[in-house]
Amino acid sequence: MSDWRVPGFTSTGSKRPDALFGPGEQSVPTRMTRASGCRVWDADGREYVDYVMALGAVALGYGHPAVNQAAQEAIAVGVVGALPPVLEEELAEALCRRLPWLDRVRFLKTGAEAVAAAVRLARAATGRDHALGCGYHGWLDWCQGGAMAGVPAATRLLYGELPFNDPARARDQIRDLGDRLAVVVVEPVIVAEPNREWLDVLRAETERVGAVLVFDEIKTAFRLAVGGVAERYGVEPDLTVLGKALANGFPLAVVGGRADLMAGVAHTWISSTLATEGVALAAARATLEVFERDDVCAHLHRVGTRLLHGLHRLQHAYPAVVSGIGGIAEMCFLHYVNDDLSRTMAVECAKRGLLFKRTAYNFVSLAHGDTDVDMTLGVLEEVLKGIQ
Ligand SMILES: Cc1ncc(COP(=O)(O)O)c(C=O)c1O
Repeated sequence: MSDWRVPGFTSTGSKRPDALFGPGEQSVPTRMTRASGCRVWDADGREYVDYVMALGAVALGYGHPAVNQAAQEAIAVGVVGALPPVLEEELAEALCRRLPWLDRVRFLKTGAEAVAAAVRLARAATGRDHALGCGYHGWLDWCQGGAMAGVPAATRLLYGELPFNDPARARDQIRDLGDRLAVVVVEPVIVAEPNREWLDVLRAETERVGAVLVFDEIKTAFRLAVGGVAERYGVEPDLTVLGKALANGFPLAVVGGRADLMAGVAHTWISSTLATEGVALAAARATLEVFERDDVCAHLHRVGTRLLHGLHRLQHAYPAVVSGIGGIAEMCFLHYVNDDLSRTMAVECAKRGLLFKRTAYNFVSLAHGDTDVDMTLGVLEEVLKGIQ
């Protein structure tokens, strides 16, 4: 039993030192004091170029001036109050205009809550209980397969996992559940881009059995395209969930989609005291404006491609350490030959002022330029050379 006041060291699983660097590592940065652009400073004042980027929740760079300005203005007018803010409807209008497959939206604070709301709405609309999921959808009960401690067995029985990019299995699983299936929730990019046939099968088969198709675009919207995979591939889900980069690090998530499904809010209960506090709403509106004005997704793709090409070069040069590349330009990582090497790489990179995730997504941002990427590839190569 440790004497940390926060059991498990931090509330955020993927930021734990053992997740970032491996268990038992001593000489690694554990807590930070400041972040700006693509850089963070640890508790000892050391500076790092960062690709954790708040686990993808920041795509414009930390502390983007336009977003900060909007947040400060929202603080100045009181943050919360007696009535719903005008800004809630204004942001909803802007999102629905930009992502036209959203007729209506509701705001929440976390991604997990927003996906759970989508599932609740799907169950309310269909009168059915079963859910299929693909990918990570947060920590709440509805989507925990396996024997997760604390999740009732009866809840687990209602959830099944659907493999990514496997059209035949998707067709079979959806047809098997048939008129018991309320909802299929998918992360539409998992390490690779989705294939067209899988997306088409998901769309056609959910329609066929009368289930609701939800795209969990928490990592992909405001990154691959403002409208995520739905926009890039031209496939319209019934409901969409947004989060992470939506408000560039301020806590906000969205569930939205077809008006008839969203009307289900009248027959169930989805509510959160601080869902419409003004700071995150203002931050999201400013974030959306910057995405459009600065063509942020094009930058993420260009700078991410430079990084990805560099990683491929390193893989060819150091095959004894690097066994492959995962992900896409906008979020990518190196596969290492074994876990020991992946830990050594993360630790040695940190010693050289680079936070680069091992076998989990590294996220580029608007604040990452060519020089940062070239410095990153240089550090990775220096460490690889040393190990090899
Ligand atoms: C695809 C996806 N869905 C849902 C979640 C849960 O979001 P949150 O951690 O904000 O609850 C995450 C978080 O990583 C995610 O990546």
